[in-house]
Amino acid sequence: MGFEAKNQPMNEFPILNPEEGIPLFYPFVAPEAFKEVEDSLNSRWIGQGPKVDLFEKQFQKKIVPNNFPVAVGSGTDGLHLAYILSGIKEGDEVITPVFTCTATNLPLLYIKAKPVFADINPLTMNINVDDIEHRITEKTKAIVAVDYGGVPADYEKLNKICEKYQLKLIGDCAQSIGTLYKGRPISEYCDFTVFSFQAIKTISTSDGGMLVLKNYGDLPLAKRLRWFGIDRSEKQKGIWENDVFEIGYKYQMTDIAACLGISSLKYFEKLVNHRKSIFEIYLENISNKQINLINTPDKNGTSICPWLCTIIVENGRIDLMNKLREKGVETAQVHYRNDRYSVFGSRKKDLPNMDYLEDKYLVLPIHHKVSINQAMEICQYINEWQY
Ligand SMILES: Cc1ncc(COP(=O)(O)O)c(C=O)c1O
Repeated sequence: MGFEAKNQPMNEFPILNPEEGIPLFYPFVAPEAFKEVEDSLNSRWIGQGPKVDLFEKQFQKKIVPNNFPVAVGSGTDGLHLAYILSGIKEGDEVITPVFTCTATNLPLLYIKAKPVFADINPLTMNINVDDIEHRITEKTKAIVAVDYGGVPADYEKLNKICEKYQLKLIGDCAQSIGTLYKGRPISEYCDFTVFSFQAIKTISTSDGGMLVLKNYGDLPLAKRLRWFGIDRSEKQKGIWENDVFEIGYKYQMTDIAACLGISSLKYFEKLVNHRKSIFEIYLENISNKQINLINTPDKNGTSICPWLCTIIVENGRIDLMNKLREKGVETAQVHYRNDRYSVFGSRKKDLPNMDYLEDKYLVLPIHHKVSINQAMEICQYINEWQY
């Protein structure tokens, strides 16, 4: 302790018990959530009810004003639905980043589609848009982009490729709620966009997700697929004689989860500003020559809401991780290249940027409980470390 930040911003979130050390992640629960949940528990609706509708409306207003949100049970549920809505079927190929949470790619296997891994851009760890076109075949139906850590993929280029080859674009924005690409929400560049409210995301509903549709016309089908293939509002009218003609799922969000989302959304700007402040502390104060920070500065209207802060450690990543853990600072790799998991087949040999970075990246804590002084302290540990 005892380090002063240059621009001491707020740290209005209660700080951690020093004995806990500094964990890599910490869930945010808004104080209002307790009352909100209590009200729902005392009401007729604890499954999907009016709070889910309200959360969708508020999310639309704040995050995706020109598109159409459908609240779901998790980001993974949302991705599965996005792939179905994109028309991806058994045997189809989908070009997708090799470096991401497995949740990006596992739902492709639910459908028996084939993930075709593209390499990463070494500056952002997002999909390398120059490594896509040569992977397109007659079977390719879609491209998936992930905004790793909150930094947007190159949507302008992705849109051009999708237009040229008539492919759907799915944005896995599980980590990039609020991020703007060239002044616009990511959902305006993608056919389908998916956010996650899993426990440790910037906004959490304990578990939950938001599937966002570019086109209003997809809304009835998306809602049916979320609920057993049934038009729920029609059925609630009483006598219902309609058929179920497609396989639906039970992928809805509950009102209890929506209560957490509604109360957390009120803190969205503060949470993002705090993350930005901590990110900037690392950016300005890490001076160890062995280390670089994954960063794309805000420019041309692109505004990043960071969820992760990732450093690239030239040599000795695990040693640094262990040394920081000795000081009570938790860091980790969080995600691994997906082609190392046998469920996706075998390790690929044509991903040179991924090969180069796979033993080098490490994620630092930037959540709402990390104080400015603690971030400064972490910088000092990193600067003093030698391998
Ligand atoms: C990139 C990415 N995609 C998908 C998911 C899945 O989201 P969820 O855990 O809400 O299912 C996550 C996070 O967990 C993620 O980080």
